[in-house]
Amino acid sequence: MNEHNVTTLNEFVIKKQNDFPYAKGELTRLLSHIGIASKIVHREVNKAGLVDILGEMGTVNPTGEDQKKLDVFANDQFIGALKASAECCGIASEENQDIVTFDNDLARDGKYIVTIDPLDGSSNIDVNVSIGTIFAIYRRISKIGHKAQEEDFLQEGTRQVAAGYVIYGSSTMMVYTTGRGVNGFTLDPSIGEFCLSHPKIQTPTNGKIYSINEGNYVKFPTGVKKYLKYCQEKDSETNRPFTSRYIGSLVADFHRNLLKGGIYIYPETENNPNGKLRLLYECNPIAFIAEQAGGKASDGNGNRILDLKPTSLHQRVPFFVGPRSMVDKAEEFMNSKGEM
Ligand code: AHG
Ligand code: MN
Ligand code: MN
Repeated sequence: MNEHNVTTLNEFVIKKQNDFPYAKGELTRLLSHIGIASKIVHREVNKAGLVDILGEMGTVNPTGEDQKKLDVFANDQFIGALKASAECCGIASEENQDIVTFDNDLARDGKYIVTIDPLDGSSNIDVNVSIGTIFAIYRRISKIGHKAQEEDFLQEGTRQVAAGYVIYGSSTMMVYTTGRGVNGFTLDPSIGEFCLSHPKIQTPTNGKIYSINEGNYVKFPTGVKKYLKYCQEKDSETNRPFTSRYIGSLVADFHRNLLKGGIYIYPETENNPNGKLRLLYECNPIAFIAEQAGGKASDGNGNRILDLKPTSLHQRVPFFVGPRSMVDKAEEFMNSKGEM
């Protein structure tokens, strides 16, 4: 990379601010604070194994999962950074039962709220496998100058102002959208800056990868079972059989599929009629990015993820995301109820 031509995340966001005639830099400050928190999380993730940050916290999160020390650390970092930005009046996090409102004079005037999965892929933390952070930013609907309300967080995904994720992988990257395409930035640890490395990301129109936890096979709906069989069949015209790839971190699985072309499915199962993934801070932000990159995200039953009206903070939803053609095909199998 020619170092004189490096565009940092902050420079890029400020440049893009000019696309919005009435922008006052609030979103810019918010994204920059998320960037700072993610650099701190990056630093700790890199030290994991050396310092006492691995392992269980001994507590459970609102959806009943064991909290890891890094889940709690990351949550504290993002809450601290968003509060300090003074642009955000509250957050909804995977790690907090209720919304967290920032009740000081500055934050009460914040126009935005954030939903966040501070650390995605918790089960991979202790074994040095990629993990991530997922976030979405909305304009509040409650009155400025007052505490944020739950209604601010229960907005349809179509109302997202920005969404992104950070992947702590072989390198750390931030990928985000404000509804005008998707751009990716790689952290250069030597200068401590996210640098534009993946401008204008578009997902391949057709992919060769399918990602699903096949250990749950017997509990899958018939449509999913049939679609998996389709993925595994030989057909030279459609490049099948496809390759199976599953990490168990939504961010890492989605990121690979976004760049290489592939479908990610977390369907409903017998015991979990709404699947596992959470609408507010996992599916909606990823769906926004997928659509902006030319892909599609649905619940597998004909409903666009971004159109769903949320009813509760930790609500789950079946999730099918990837190139449009692949999601369409999977939905065809879901529709046919096994007749295909
Ligand atoms: P989190 O670590 O934030 O709770 O999310 C875990 C999610 C997601 O990252 C991943 O795709 C999925 O759980 C994996 O679930 P399975 O282990 O059931 O495959
Ligand atoms: Mn998650
Ligand atoms: Mn998480």
